[in-house]
Amino acid sequence: MDANPPAGHRTTASGSSGAEEIRLDGVSKTYPDGTIGVRELDLTFAAGELSVLVGPSGCGKTTTMKMINRIIEPTTGRILLGEDDVTRVDPVQLRRRIGYVIQNVGLFPHQSVRRNVATVPRLVGWDKKRTQDRVEELLTLVGLDPATFGDRYPHQLSGGQRQRAGVARALAADPAVLLMDEPFSAVDPVVRERLQTEFLRLQDTVRKTIVFVTHDIEEAVRLGDRIAVMSEGGTVEQFAPPADLLGTPATPFVADFVGADRGLKRLAVTGIDPDDLEHPPVAHVDDGLADVRASMERAGARWAVVLDDQQHLHGWISADRAAGAGTVYGAGKRMEAWVPVDASLKAAFSTMLQLEAGWVAVLDGDRFLGVLTPASLHAALRRSVDGTVPEIAGAV
Ligand SMILES: Nc1ncnc2c1ncn2[C@@H]1O[C@H](COP(=O)(O)OP(=O)(O)OP(=O)(O)O)[C@@H](O)[C@H]1O
Ligand SMILES: [Mg+2]
Repeated sequence: MDANPPAGHRTTASGSSGAEEIRLDGVSKTYPDGTIGVRELDLTFAAGELSVLVGPSGCGKTTTMKMINRIIEPTTGRILLGEDDVTRVDPVQLRRRIGYVIQNVGLFPHQSVRRNVATVPRLVGWDKKRTQDRVEELLTLVGLDPATFGDRYPHQLSGGQRQRAGVARALAADPAVLLMDEPFSAVDPVVRERLQTEFLRLQDTVRKTIVFVTHDIEEAVRLGDRIAVMSEGGTVEQFAPPADLLGTPATPFVADFVGADRGLKRLAVTGIDPDDLEHPPVAHVDDGLADVRASMERAGARWAVVLDDQQHLHGWISADRAAGAGTVYGAGKRMEAWVPVDASLKAAFSTMLQLEAGWVAVLDGDRFLGVLTPASLHAALRRSVDGTVPEIAGAV
C-alpha cells in the first residue's frame, strides 16, 4: 500500500492560483444501514494536481467525493481543505471553494446554459455585471460560444456540450478545488477523448486541485497526475503516479485492474531519458563520403546521422550510399522520424511505426541528442519499472 504521496510530480503545479491541498486522515463512512462506503482512507490530494479515484462500481468513489464538500458526513476521521477542517467551515463558504461536477452532469433542466453557469456566483452574492462577465468568459474557455449556446436549455445541447457546460458551472466562482464525478462517462469515446484533451489544456491554465472520479483506467492514466485505485469495501489499494501504477502495481488487484497490457499503457506515461539514447556515427553535410564510410566501418555501423553545419538534423546516410567521391550532402536522405526529448516513449514508438523507420532521432529544440531504436526503447521501458525514468504527466 502506498497511500501517502511525496511531493507532486507535475512540477508546474506549485504556485497555482490559490489551489489548496485536500487531506483525508483516517476517513471512514458507514451508512446507517451498516453498508461500508469507505474504510480508513489516508489520502493527500496535492494542490494544483489532478488526482483520480478509479475502481469498480460501488467501491466508494462518490462517497469519498461527497465527504469532501460535506454532502455526506464522514463517520470517523478528518478532512482538511488547506488548513481548515471541512466540518468546521460554513457549508456555503465551503462550496464557494469547491466546484462540483456531478455524475451525469446534473445541469438544471429548466434553466438556460447562462443561468446554470451563474448558479454559484449568484448563490454567493456576486453582482450582476461581474456574474455576466464571468459566465461569458467561462463559456468561451470551455469552447461554448456564448452567443450560440448561452440561451439554450440543457436538452438543446449535445452530450459533449452539456459536459462542457457542467465544467463551466463548476468553475464559475473560481473555486480552489474541483470535484468531478465521472464527468465524461455519458459521451461516446471519440467525444470523450476530445473533452479529455480540452480538459487537460484547461487544467494547464487554471491549475486547480482536482479530484476526478472514473471507472475507466485509460481515462485515469491519461488525465491523472496521481491515481488512487480503490477496491470493493472502500479501501485504497495504491495511490501513485500513472507510470508507477502501471510499472509496479502494489497488489494483485491493481495488477488485474490496470490490465494485462499495462506495459503498453506505460509507454504513454514514460518519458525519454537521454541516458537511454544511442549514439550512431554522426556525419555533417560537408563531410567527404570516404571519411564517413571510414567512420561507419570503425563503429561497425550500417548508417550514420547527418547534421547540418548548425548541428540540426538533416537526415541519414546508409553505408551503401557512402561510396565514391563527393560529400554527404547529395547522398544523404531526409529524415522525418524525430521526436522532441520531452515526448513519451509511446510518441517515439508510434512515430517509428508511422514512418516505417528503424529508429527515431531525439531533439532538444533543434539540437540533435541521439536516437532511439526498438532495442533502446525496450531498455528504456524495462528501466521505467525501477522508477528511474522521468514521467510525463498525463501525456499520451
Ligand atoms: N445512502 C446510502 N445508504 C447505504 N449505502 C449506500 C448509500 N450510498 C452509497 N451506498 C453504498 O456505499 C458503497 C459505495 O457507494 P459509492 O456511490 O461511493 O460507489 P461508487 O464507487 O461511486 O460507485 P459507481 O462507480 O457505481 O458510481 C456502495 O456499496 C453503495 O451501495
Ligand atoms: Mg459513483
